Amino acid sequence: MISISASTPTHATAARATVRTLAPNGTSLAIEWEDGHTSTFHNIWLRDNCSCDSCGDHSGGARFYELNMMSDDLSLSTATVADGLIQLTWNSDGHVTHYDTDWLRSHCLSATERTSRRHQPILWDNSLEGNVPEVDYMLAQTDDAEKLKMFDAVRTYGICLLRNVPATKEETKKVAEMVGHIRETHYGDIFEIISTPNPTLVANQPVPLRPHTDENWRNTLVGIMIFHTIRASEDGGGASVMTDGFKLAEELKRIDPDAYDLLSKVPIPHRRFIHDVGLRAETPVIQHDYFGNISEFRLNERTMGPLDLPHDLIEPTYAALKKLYDISYDPQFHMTHLLGSGEALVFDNARVLHARTGFNGNRHVRLTHVDVDEFHSRWRQLRRRLNGDINLI
Ligand SMILES: [Fe+2]
Ligand SMILES: [Zn+2]
Repeated sequence: MISISASTPTHATAARATVRTLAPNGTSLAIEWEDGHTSTFHNIWLRDNCSCDSCGDHSGGARFYELNMMSDDLSLSTATVADGLIQLTWNSDGHVTHYDTDWLRSHCLSATERTSRRHQPILWDNSLEGNVPEVDYMLAQTDDAEKLKMFDAVRTYGICLLRNVPATKEETKKVAEMVGHIRETHYGDIFEIISTPNPTLVANQPVPLRPHTDENWRNTLVGIMIFHTIRASEDGGGASVMTDGFKLAEELKRIDPDAYDLLSKVPIPHRRFIHDVGLRAETPVIQHDYFGNISEFRLNERTMGPLDLPHDLIEPTYAALKKLYDISYDPQFHMTHLLGSGEALVFDNARVLHARTGFNGNRHVRLTHVDVDEFHSRWRQLRRRLNGDINLI
């Protein structure tokens, strides 16, 4: 038996959403809001999300009420609203559930509101050149609104330029720590990209690099990457060439839907065997979430391993890859920016490809990676604190 609780629910905040009518219909509750929109919640959903002291709160992991404790009778005996709180009383055991109206509105299950709170990337091509979202790094140190601009830009465009970054080695770590937790790789926590006479890694050679994503040999991508320029090449070379992988995928879908479909399904292996490292992962180039939105894009010709596919898929997969590489080499999708001393580029490696023009001068760029979950966690906390967004996905 669940005890009756009238204590303040976790879902209570300062309410803004005003209810016009409440209409229980046996298996669900329809709420008409003051702006005319109607949200409908199933009774089982409403009972499951009760976060009173006796049921416990899912968001903190302290949950006491279990689905299998639910009665088969999930009808409501009363549904009332007062002072921004909806009070529901359950027929079977008299349990009382409170919902803050704002919380319910922000969890509305209508198609439009579900879409509006989901991540909505804005795809881009070379028209982003000269228009990259940028943030004043020194200001962002003390101003959360400026810091949020950086998080929002990386979420939406996959990229943000930080200006006013001290061109010192000490600062690389501080930039990363503003974005999230440093994710160490086999290069260590910070990778020095310096033109050297006899480099063993291609990144250290002053040659141009094709657009690619990094670290594709990991099941979970390193996520957010940061290039911090200590010294730009004197010859004006070594510019960063950035490409929106989601845009490339969209273009592939437009010109060859079958190739798009294939690269959304077949696993492409990537491997890294150097020193004592034996990393390997295989995923489709284009990954989607349950709703069909692109969630990840990986491409790197230099690190692709031998395809391990049935005979009939080998040639079509190579044909689809060639088509996608062709698109990725097309300058209409390239946004070029010559990172100067005092600039850093923060970008989402699960979406944005990086490349580089060749150069002949002395150039020193420092690369570090940031854990993607911590990045999104900080974004969500900032949006909640500064904008009152309580349900961002
Ligand atoms: Fe790279
Ligand atoms: Zn409860």
